[in-house]
Amino acid sequence: MEIKAIRDKLQSIGQGSALRFWDRLDEAGRGRLGRQLQLLDLTSIAQLVQTQVKTKPKLELPREIQPARAYPRDPKPEDRALYRQAEQRGMELLRGGKVGAFLVAGGQGTRLGYDGPKGEFPVTPIRNKPLFQVFAEQLAAWSQLVGKTIPWYIMTSDINDGPTRAFFQKHGHFGYDSSAIFFFQQGMMPAFAADGQMLLAEESSLALSPDGHGGSLGALARSGALADMKRRGIEQLSYFQVDNPMVQCIDPLFLGLHDLVGSEMSSKTIPKADALEKVGNFVLADGVLQVIEYSDLPESLAKQTDEQGKLRFNAGSIAIHALKVGFIERLNEGGRLNLPWHRAEKKVPYVDQEGRTIKPDKPNAIKLEQFVFDAIPLANNPMVYTTERSEEFSPVKNADGNDSPHTSRRDQVLRAIRWLKEAGVEVQEGAMVEISPSFAVRADRLAGRTLPRRIVAGESVYLE
Ligand code: UTP
Repeated sequence: MEIKAIRDKLQSIGQGSALRFWDRLDEAGRGRLGRQLQLLDLTSIAQLVQTQVKTKPKLELPREIQPARAYPRDPKPEDRALYRQAEQRGMELLRGGKVGAFLVAGGQGTRLGYDGPKGEFPVTPIRNKPLFQVFAEQLAAWSQLVGKTIPWYIMTSDINDGPTRAFFQKHGHFGYDSSAIFFFQQGMMPAFAADGQMLLAEESSLALSPDGHGGSLGALARSGALADMKRRGIEQLSYFQVDNPMVQCIDPLFLGLHDLVGSEMSSKTIPKADALEKVGNFVLADGVLQVIEYSDLPESLAKQTDEQGKLRFNAGSIAIHALKVGFIERLNEGGRLNLPWHRAEKKVPYVDQEGRTIKPDKPNAIKLEQFVFDAIPLANNPMVYTTERSEEFSPVKNADGNDSPHTSRRDQVLRAIRWLKEAGVEVQEGAMVEISPSFAVRADRLAGRTLPRRIVAGESVYLE
């Protein structure tokens, strides 16, 4: 689109002030702002300003909220055959090249405060491997196990795309076949002032941020990633986030169960640490499976217990999903991703009418994001499967305290020690262990490996 057409469009939706410094921008500045505007869906933005920005939509809770049903980690006797079949089915799908890995890594990582893509962050307890390497090694191990390289889709955003690609290049893609890696960028959304105007971060730039992990489902379609999957014959995706080094990037049982029960989108859950833990809750809302954010679940419900004194709403969401490719295509029918937007009030630096940069000390802006779990209620037969926190969840979200590098390293060591003990190794308290995915990608893969008989306190052992 020519700038004239963009200007007309902006004016018609009351956003003309985005170009207020145009006349004094140099060529590079004009190119930058023009490109940013061109990538936005200005018609949708005009609607969103009315429905989400100028007015705060009222949260409508469903009439009836019931706990969601989840498959347990260990099958009930009547489900043992189903789980065996699911594991086999998962392996068949992997061997047949029907599964792609899908990592979303476009976020800003503001809480961690690391200067660079979060996936670069060193996270393992002994070797300090970065998050990206942990996933690459896991996927390489699974590729070897199933005899087929698993195509890997990595979503970045405008804030970290270049550095992410450069990091993979610099490290030789951590040994992964680079022709099986597909990088693509998610969309960006402008921040708005309370009156609905798009904010400028600079005279030649909108105040943009990534459009949320839900945006991934639209970006897959726009970027050509879905087309690439069709070409390769991929039918389902194993979705995970960049911040959790404990995730099983590939889990044949979960993927197989997802397929066998005919689910279009499946999710892993863990029992919550406490009633008010800051994770989403899987619930049945008026009979439909969905995730309600911790901040939206009424406290009275969050704290409700059953006859045995256990939390009724105990299914926490850990952002691990399996998705059918056909489902993602359906969500994009009509050329636009059909997911709701979530509004958050944030502090966003901006340039005012005179071109001065203002750093607000209280929230001044509205940001809009889409969340991937909002696709669950749109899926046919969505399924939830329970896993264990100590096996699969210890994210790096904050610089310190909960969900920090410190707690994640601790949990990785505890898991490695538990795996070794289960395999008959004596591990003394105070020992440090790191198991490389190439050595064992999960506990049962230690069988047949040469293991130390004993690891003593103070020892650091890296198994590769
Ligand atoms: P978070 O919700 O933790 O957000 O993302 P964040 O941006 O990484 O971190 P904070 O909130 O600024 O501290 C969970 C996962 O979703 C991805 C992140 O990269 C992470 O893997 N994500 C989030 C995206 O890919 N895009 C987004 O727009 C938001």
